[in-house]
Amino acid sequence: MLCPTSPHLALLALLSVAGAVGQGEPCPSKMNLIKDRLQVNCSGQGLSVVPLALPRNTGILLLSTNRLELILSHNALEVLPTLQGLPALTRLTLAHNNISELLPGAFRDVGKLTELNLRGNQLRTLPEEAFEGLAGLKDLDLSDNALEELPQGLLAGLELNTLWLSG
Ligand SMILES: *[C@@H]1O[C@H](CO)[C@@H](O)[C@H](O)[C@H]1NC(C)=O
Ligand SMILES: *[C@@H]1O[C@H](CO)[C@@H](O)[C@H](O)[C@H]1NC(C)=O
Repeated sequence: MLCPTSPHLALLALLSVAGAVGQGEPCPSKMNLIKDRLQVNCSGQGLSVVPLALPRNTGILLLSTNRLELILSHNALEVLPTLQGLPALTRLTLAHNNISELLPGAFRDVGKLTELNLRGNQLRTLPEEAFEGLAGLKDLDLSDNALEELPQGLLAGLELNTLWLSG
């Protein structure tokens, strides 16, 4: 049944206006015919926050090549999510998850990181090459894990300002 004065639509319209005023042009969207979902492309727009005024039926949101920080704290992640498509990411927060293992070169796809927070996970050991390629990393937080020792070459090639190892 059609309901032309739906309050949801009105709210959506208000949000759209607010978003358009606050954040410039909305991201282009089109139907992704393969996945049968509305795909909104906010890539490469210099965003520092995820836009609020997205179409309500957005099924796929592309956010690569922006200035976003990726914060995935307090989930139940047990493995590192795939980080491809985020080459400009500078800050990655994976604190308070359940990650027990990092593979060598785990952060190779996000080589511009300056800050990496792995606090409060279940890491027991780390491969020597865990942080390989992170030449710009300044701040590494490994506190509150189950680490008993660090491999000798772990910090080779890094120029950290701060390494957190408490707990
Ligand atoms: C998304 O937008 C960016 C920037 O305009 C463009 O380079 C890219 O090809 C688009 N991606 C898709 C899947 O449409
Ligand atoms: C984390 O992993 C442990 C051991 O596998 C499990 O007992 C616990 O429920 C997990 N925590 C969460 C939040 O998933």
